Amino acid sequence: MDFKQYHAQVVSDTQILLSQCIRHYPTLPCDLLAAMEYALLGQGKRMRPLLISLVGDVLGVSKEKLAPLMVAIECIHAYSLVHDDLPDMDDDDLRRGMPTCHIQYTPGTAILVGDALQSLAFEHLAQHPVLSASEKVAVIQILAKASGYEGMCGGQAIDLHFTNQDIDLETLTQLHRLKTGALLGACVDMVIALVPSLDVEHQALLHTFSRSLGLAFQVQDDILDITSDSDTLGKPSGSDQDLNKSTFPALLGLQASQEYLDRLYTQALQSSDQLPYNTAQLNEFAAFLVKRNH
Ligand code: IPE
Ligand code: IPE
Ligand code: MG
Ligand code: MG
Ligand code: MG
Repeated sequence: MDFKQYHAQVVSDTQILLSQCIRHYPTLPCDLLAAMEYALLGQGKRMRPLLISLVGDVLGVSKEKLAPLMVAIECIHAYSLVHDDLPDMDDDDLRRGMPTCHIQYTPGTAILVGDALQSLAFEHLAQHPVLSASEKVAVIQILAKASGYEGMCGGQAIDLHFTNQDIDLETLTQLHRLKTGALLGACVDMVIALVPSLDVEHQALLHTFSRSLGLAFQVQDDILDITSDSDTLGKPSGSDQDLNKSTFPALLGLQASQEYLDRLYTQALQSSDQLPYNTAQLNEFAAFLVKRNH
């Protein structure tokens, strides 16, 4: 299967898994469940489930064990997008080619969608019969840390703090590593947690691979905000400039940002190439991530 087919398969598998995981909820006399489905089942690229699946394949982890991790990370990611778009955050009205959750529903409902999706991620991991008790504790701990103060939320808070305010390169790098890199890193770390026999050096190489790409992901997102259009992105282009956000192109310029992205890509490949596995698909993932147009 080539990379494109593999990605399409993950998108379709993830869609089924996400629908199944939300389907067990009884309806309530409100639109919370419909709004959760709206946020979760939109046309995302499913990059994080894709990374989990690829690393899982490389390390020989069964599809059954990867499935709950793919669902949980996507619940957290969808929650982060819903909150990111809120009027008091980026105030965006388009996401995945559709009105954002707070536009389609209300800001209050969108806040609760984020809250409930976050809980769903951990509930799903905690109840899943395919993971052992110790595996559950390990993956829940990794995902909780990557989502919270020392991860995505911390990064989003730095992002808010440095909106309309000058930032230095070190702080901007920290911002991006936390708000976006942490969840991509968690994808790899959760899979590693299911393979306790994995060589420490190989763990470190996978760690560097995911950290380089996690940062690269947000650098490319910043670049696309300027170089692409809303139709292609499925979200408003120029949003960062409108809000005077601290981004790599704003601090370094477009060309230097592109060069930095290329360096992160090279770093990622240098790590994966040292792994004693067939990493061709992981390298394709890296190429897709830095060359994507949305
Ligand atoms: C967008 O993430 C937000 C960032 C962390 C940069 P994605 O580009 O993965 O969004 P979807 O899931 O494909 O919509
Ligand atoms: C958001 O970064 C990262 C998240 C934690 C959701 P952005 O604000 O740049 O993401 P987009 O461009 O709205 O998807
Ligand atoms: Mg934002
Ligand atoms: Mg945003
Ligand atoms: Mg962006």
